[in-house]
Formats: sequence, structure tokens, C-alpha cells
Amino acid sequence: MSSESARRSRPLERMEDLVALCARRGFAFPSSEIYGGINGFWDYGPLGVELKNNLKAAWWQAVVRERDDVEGIDSSIICHPRTWEASGHVEHFSDPMVDCRACKKRFRADQLVDAGPCPAREGTSEHDWTEPRRFNLMLQTRIGAAEDAAAIAYLRPETCQPIFNDFRRVRETARQQIPFGIAQIGKAFRNEINPRNFTFRSREFEQAELEFFCREPERERWFDHWLEERLRFHRELGLGPEVLRTRPHAPEELAHYCKRAIDIEFRFPFGWQEIEGVHDRGDWDLSRHSEFSGKDLAITDPETKERYVPIVIETSVGIDRSCLALLCHAYAEEDLEGGETRTVLRLHPRLAPVSAAVLPLSKKLAEPAQRLGRELRRRYNVFYDDAGNIGRRYRRQDEAGTPFCVTYDFDSETDGKVTVRERDSMQQDRIPLEGVAAYLADRLGPGA
Ligand code: GAP
Repeated sequence: MSSESARRSRPLERMEDLVALCARRGFAFPSSEIYGGINGFWDYGPLGVELKNNLKAAWWQAVVRERDDVEGIDSSIICHPRTWEASGHVEHFSDPMVDCRACKKRFRADQLVDAGPCPAREGTSEHDWTEPRRFNLMLQTRIGAAEDAAAIAYLRPETCQPIFNDFRRVRETARQQIPFGIAQIGKAFRNEINPRNFTFRSREFEQAELEFFCREPERERWFDHWLEERLRFHRELGLGPEVLRTRPHAPEELAHYCKRAIDIEFRFPFGWQEIEGVHDRGDWDLSRHSEFSGKDLAITDPETKERYVPIVIETSVGIDRSCLALLCHAYAEEDLEGGETRTVLRLHPRLAPVSAAVLPLSKKLAEPAQRLGRELRRRYNVFYDDAGNIGRRYRRQDEAGTPFCVTYDFDSETDGKVTVRERDSMQQDRIPLEGVAAYLADRLGPGA
């Protein structure tokens, strides 16, 4: 069959282009936009929420469902405030910050190169910095009507601490033995001083975390196992070695409880940056929560009867950051034959917000095309569009990352066939109507 062929492809170079596409197509845009936005908070629109849900489902499938040694939970966002004393967040979870006395802006003391000139000082563009002060990054709230300090609570700054709180209950109810893990996906909140780079550093974001509990002699083996698993996950979603690398933490970078840490980094247009961390947290968390709660979280070895506190190997990935990496990597601008250009998101078909678009060539063909759309929708997220020029409709689907467009034309009425166009190659296949579901199943998996 015929195909529109691409000549030259340019990857994403400027974040502004992706930010513009995300706003234009409703992937993600500033939260409370009608009020001018709120710094560090983002909303995901109809395409963004599908992408995010697909990524979370892929993670849950790989980390929880495909294993019999990992259990999933969904904990509350607000934990008992003692949790954050035990975890060290009340004492240590802070960044050094400085204020400019002239323009009143606040910056992280270690990121002053990004501050730019001071807009408020005459005769000089230099800021008038205060001395650095520690600034705790946890977002506070109050519970109940009482105004006293006892009612202060925190929005969790990471999703793993409630996993430690629930460790005993989950192990007992799921009848798990060491080694095993507990995983969850959920919101985390940090009062970042300088949120930036679109969703990369936000104040509200989602994490997918696994805490894997093992014995001390096996810690290295489990660390290597999980690092490899997590790299495989990213690779399978299309992130190759040219954009993915690992970076071990130097000893002085390690958190005081952390024995070993490796970041998985992605090459963003603004440089190599962490999207996931794999950490050996030792027995710090369970020991501290035992101490602060007064509940012994140690385990008895079933054979030797020895008591011990398990070691924790953690994998912690930001869902928003991962989505951003996937979008950056998928984005391409292509020059087509005939002088046309297109913007395309070459997302992995499993992650694409819309799996297939059904596009009748004319509104007159709406009825049979809608019938096909309804059938496919039982298994896949399908978009139906019968308005406007077919070329323009293809371009819209390319920008949304839709892997397949199914076109119902006037010949379909007589030959019972439709044209399926593949996003990346733009190759078109003419296939029987009744074969469309199987065609998609071959390429997308069985669907819902
Ligand atoms: N429990 C360990 C932990 O939270 P982290 O390195 O602070 O470790 C893990 O965070 C991941 O969470 C990061 O690799 C990143 O993907 C994501 N993350 C952290 N802070 C973020 C922020 N302000 N905005 C978006 N994602 C963030």
C-alpha cells in the first residue's frame, strides 16, 4: 500500500517545544491555569492521564503482579507525625536557601548560578543575598480544629515511609517470609524552593516505590537484581543506552543511613538527570520505626530462631519524571516528502494514550466507522474523529502518539476492508474489517 515517507527527523532540543505540545494537546499544563497557575503544580489532561496510568500499570505489572515475592499497598498520604521524626525528615529533610533582600526571591544556596540578574537593584544586577538558612521541604497541614502543635501533620514527602509503618501487618496478612517486598504508587509532596524544568521538579508528584526486605548476606545480590530489573523496565519502554545511564553515588553523597546508591539517569535536553534511585537503606528504617513506635519490627529466623532486622533495598522512580523522559525521547519533528513537516510522539504502543484512532474518510461513513470504533473500544482506548481533512487528522494523531489510525473509506463499503496506518513508518495496510481487532492485538497485546 501507499505510504507518506519521512525524510529527516529532528529530536527534541528545546523543552519549550514539548511544553507547548503538552499544553496544546492537553497532556499537561499549569494547575489552576485560569488563576495564572501555581508554581510547582501541574495538571494532566485527557492524554496525559492515560499516559500516566499506562506507565503506572506497566510498573505495577512488572514489580507487583508478575512476582510472588512482592505485595502492593495503597497507604494514606498523611501518616502519624511521629513517622517523620523516626524517618529523620523533621530533622534533616531541608535544603540550604538564601533570600535576595532586594527582589525578595528565594533560591537554593547550591543553585545560585540559575538565579540570573537581580531585577530590583539600581546600578548593579547583583543580588543582595542573606546568609544561607535551612528550609524544611515537608508541606505541613493541620488535622482537626485544634490550633496546637500536636495537630500538625505532614503531607508525605516520599511514599516509602508508610510501607515501613505497614511492614508487620502486610507481612503477616500476606504470609510472606523474608526476602519479600512491599510496593506502592502514590502522591508525594515537597516544598521545593525552585520547582523547574516543567514537571521534572514539582511540589506535588507521584512516586512508585518498592521496599524489598532481605537478610544482610544477600543485600548485594538483591541490590544488583533490582537495579537490573529496573533498567530492563526502562529499556523495554524504549529508553536505549544513548539516553539512559547509571551513576553510583560517591560516599560523601550518600544519606547517612544509605550503604550504596545508584541513580538511573536520563539525558534530558537540560542534561543528564536522575529519574530513579536504587538504594541500600540498611536496617535504618525498620530500626527507627521500632524505636519510635515501641513496636518491635524485628523478624525471627524460622530455622535458627535468631532475631534480626531486615535490610531494605529500595527502588524509587518518579512517575512524572519518567513520563517527562518518555515524552522527551518520543518527540520528533520530521520533514516529509513534498515539503510537509510533522511532529510525532513515538511512544511505546503500550504507553500511548490512545491505542487506535478510527477515522472515516467522510462524515457520510460515520455509522459503520462508529460501529468499528465501538467494537475496538471494548479492548483499547480508541479515539473517533470524522471532522476535517484526513492528512490533518493523521497529524493530530501523530502528535498524540497514537500508534494506529484505521481509515474507513468508500471502498470499505464494497470490499469490506479498511486502511490501517502505522504511526512511525506511516506504512498503510489494507486489511479486512473483521481482522482489525486481531491486527491490533498482534501489535498492542490483547488489551483490557
Ligand atoms: N524514598 C526515596 C526517595 O524518595 P528521592 O531520590 O528523593 O528518593 C525518588 O526520590 C524519585 O522521586 C526521584 O528519582 C524522582 O524521580 C522523584 N522525585 C523526587 N523529587 C521530585 C520532585 N520534586 N518532582 C518530581 N519528581 C521527584
